[in-house]
Amino acid sequence: MSASDPSFIVRPGGKLGGSVRVPGDKSVSHRAVMFGAVSDGITEVRDYLDSEDVQATIAAFRTMGVQIENIDDGALRIHGVGVDGVAKDQNFQIDMGNSGTAMRLLTGLLAGMGVSATLRGDESLSKRPMNRIVKPLQSMGASFATAADGRPPLQIHSTNQLQAMHYDMPMASAQVKSAVLLAGLGADGLTSVSEPAVSRDHTERMLDAFGVTVSVDGSRIGIEGGQRLTGCNITVPSDLSSAAFFIIGAAITPGAELTISGAGINPTRDGVLKILELMGAKIEQRAPGNCGLEPVADLVVTGGGLKGITVPPELVPLAIDEFPALAVAAACAQGTTRITGARELRVKETDRITAVVDGLKAIGIECHELDDGMVIEGGAIRGGEVFARGDHRLAMAFSMAALRASDDIVVRDVANVATSFPEFSTLAASAGLQIERA
Ligand code: S3P
Repeated sequence: MSASDPSFIVRPGGKLGGSVRVPGDKSVSHRAVMFGAVSDGITEVRDYLDSEDVQATIAAFRTMGVQIENIDDGALRIHGVGVDGVAKDQNFQIDMGNSGTAMRLLTGLLAGMGVSATLRGDESLSKRPMNRIVKPLQSMGASFATAADGRPPLQIHSTNQLQAMHYDMPMASAQVKSAVLLAGLGADGLTSVSEPAVSRDHTERMLDAFGVTVSVDGSRIGIEGGQRLTGCNITVPSDLSSAAFFIIGAAITPGAELTISGAGINPTRDGVLKILELMGAKIEQRAPGNCGLEPVADLVVTGGGLKGITVPPELVPLAIDEFPALAVAAACAQGTTRITGARELRVKETDRITAVVDGLKAIGIECHELDDGMVIEGGAIRGGEVFARGDHRLAMAFSMAALRASDDIVVRDVANVATSFPEFSTLAASAGLQIERA
């Protein structure tokens, strides 16, 4: 962080109200761009998330020669080149910025297509573990070089056709699952994975939209190599992970009532709603429908009455990105909240266990770390200075804590909010948060 890095200054009090619509889903947007780029024919993507992470994915495919046009209403038109259409005799230099999803999914896809490339990232991404994808992909015959301990930069060497395999995943991770399945598209035969718990299934749903058959047998998910993708039109639902800051902002404030319209509520991704409901939050789902193959609904949140809980570990992978926001809810709840089984939080954009606990302590909340989670005592939030450590979700979560604070909360190092939700502060201000960017 440098002195010129932006901060949010959030005045205490106020309440969220009215109706908001948050931008497109990041996970779905990455996949729409990737699959469109390697499909046969044209893909148009509407309501995609125009943020730094997704721009990194778009730029990567432009570097690889795929034509991606910005068309009307902020949509994309992607001229797919097919799974065999990216040059194999070049070592593409690709900057994935802050995006772990982009790096891991693209690695699987490119390894399966026999493309060589060097993928780099920013300071945060350069510290994140890639062995979780490198090891299974190597077992399929892919070849890589990485920095020490499997960290980026990650060089993918072009190889001959990969071998299909079954992989028992050691952790529930949609990124690992997706990397292996996408590599499997280029392998000979059935590539499959089993997960210890359910992770988000956007890859499976979207491959289906592109005409690829994905088999699901209990916890085993498989893909036959050699299938081609057919370009299609995708409309991206609003991102539940972005909605989560608004849901929690309303849920922690007695008297608040906020509608978040058209939010994605994919059941492999809706842990935040289930956990908040266990905490006593009032969240009504209205106008349920579908956005392509993804379910959506309007969420009407009425504030107040939260109580601390022990979070059921099986819900953790379904809410993996929402723990910074859920921690703020726990700080505003009556009693103790205990989160376990969440070791994966240590390898996100920052170590989210340490960073969240430090942030909560800085605003007067009693809490402590566990190896795989944290324990939070609900209490009175003072003002204070919180370091977001370049983590977008920490920045947005701690901004919402000001709704229940007795003094200003200053959140430092918030530039990376642009990776997932560039218009966060403007939208939050329109809903009633007294937030300024400095
Ligand atoms: C994502 C999967 C999750 C999540 C990330 C997006 C995806 O990571 O944290 O923000 O789009 O597949 P893991 O699957 O590694 O838990």
